[in-house]
Amino acid sequence: MPIRIAVVGSGYVGLVAGACFADLGHEVILVDNDQKKLAALRDGQVPIHEKFLPELLNRHRGQRLTFSDDLKEAARLSSVIFVAVGTPPTERGDADLSYVESVAREISGGVDQYKVIVEKSTVPVYTSEWVRRIILRNGADPETFDVASNPEFLREGTAVTDFLFPDRIVIGCDSARSAEVLREVYAPMTDGSYYLRPESIPQPDRAVIPPPIIVTSTKSAELIKHASNAFLAMKISFINAVASVCESVGADVNQVVNGVGTDSRIGRRFLNPGIGYGGSCFPKDVLAFRAVARECGYDFRLLDEVMRINEDQRQRFLRKIHHALWTLRGKKLAVLGLAFKGGTDDIRESPALHLVESLLQEGSAITAYDPAAMERAREVLGSKIEFASSPYEAAHDADALLILTEWEEFANLDLNQIRKELRYPIVIDGRNLYDPELMAAQGFTYYSVGRAASHPDGVPSGLLRNGKKA
Ligand SMILES: NC(=O)c1ccc[n+]([C@@H]2O[C@H](COP(=O)([O-])OP(=O)(O)OC[C@H]3O[C@@H](n4cnc5c(N)ncnc54)[C@H](O)[C@@H]3O)[C@@H](O)[C@H]2O)c1
Repeated sequence: MPIRIAVVGSGYVGLVAGACFADLGHEVILVDNDQKKLAALRDGQVPIHEKFLPELLNRHRGQRLTFSDDLKEAARLSSVIFVAVGTPPTERGDADLSYVESVAREISGGVDQYKVIVEKSTVPVYTSEWVRRIILRNGADPETFDVASNPEFLREGTAVTDFLFPDRIVIGCDSARSAEVLREVYAPMTDGSYYLRPESIPQPDRAVIPPPIIVTSTKSAELIKHASNAFLAMKISFINAVASVCESVGADVNQVVNGVGTDSRIGRRFLNPGIGYGGSCFPKDVLAFRAVARECGYDFRLLDEVMRINEDQRQRFLRKIHHALWTLRGKKLAVLGLAFKGGTDDIRESPALHLVESLLQEGSAITAYDPAAMERAREVLGSKIEFASSPYEAAHDADALLILTEWEEFANLDLNQIRKELRYPIVIDGRNLYDPELMAAQGFTYYSVGRAASHPDGVPSGLLRNGKKA
């Protein structure tokens, strides 16, 4: 049975969730207070780069999916209200819950018959209690609503498929009634019927169909999200620390990852050495989880170390660039990748952008290319760097090529053309997209993470000009 749903916040999570709920057959009102975003959405534009999102918006816009800035009215018209507004970090590192609070306050006036208010945003444990308190304080009858938690595990770049084909659905509910409502919302997925429809989004590899639903208390659900993100960030920092040891002893971290990751208890995913994690989630969620633990009386120092290794990883990469190029003032560098990871246009807390800022401070000139994130990067960097229309244009006449985001396109470059474009055939790869031996055979001096540098004919870095001895 279709359910009337309001999704508050039409960002990466809210927009994807709203479009997917509509695809499941529900009636969805997407709410935002950003008028420009609403106008663009109504006009048929798609404000974020996500595979399958344009199709879903086209399919449901104006029918099962409508847009509004009237939160109270949207709440009044809906049985379930998903809150998917931002929860950015404060200066102290804990989550800024003022957007969540303001939504809770505004919803109160629309709570006139039983509704479930669901935290979709990533929030610290205890937030559901606060949301309940705020709604009560603003005059709602305690019998007319429940607050539940339904954390979102989608990854930007594969958000639609992650939403519709999740490893699991977690619903945290403190009443049987709210659990029943949320089960109904996800029923087309959990009973498998959605996946039998001819127009359903294609199934990715490794999909668990139907996905299991895990019902917990709201507090446990809130903790599941923070603990999951902290664990994944820890995995990344762990392998980056191992990569540093590999560099010291001359081992190859990719070989180590193969050996470690094939242990089914550990798993291969999220063991990708590189320039550290970024994005709008891991940095803020690790910080927030650290802060919540401290508030609750537990000193979660493991998380300090996860953050320290992550920061250190960028500094190590900078040192690598110095090692390859000696001085940076006046050097012209080609940068491939500005997004915080491949497949998205999101540049929030992007390690690539942090590195670009550091290189600019050191006096380098940068020409960058990213398949999706240049428009957003331009808003932040303005004219501080040049933007190219292809990796080859970026590489033209550069002293070295830096790979900072793991876009698939960057793993399949025409290396001949890149070598011809570069002033010196030096590639510094922060994402380990290439095989060092192959790069040397192609005439490059090649640096990566956790692996020895490779040089054509064993000649050390910088002594070649366009493949010939200088
Ligand atoms: N981005 C991800 O990959 C991801 C994944 C899982 C969970 N999350 C969590 O989901 C939440 C949202 O993240 P996001 O990346 O979608 O954020 P976002 O910044 O892309 O979107 C938030 C949206 O909320 C809107 N908004 C803010 N206050 C509002 C209000 N009072 N009324 C109506 N709209 C309002 C903003 O205009 C914006 O469009 C965060 O808590 C985040 O940690 C994000």
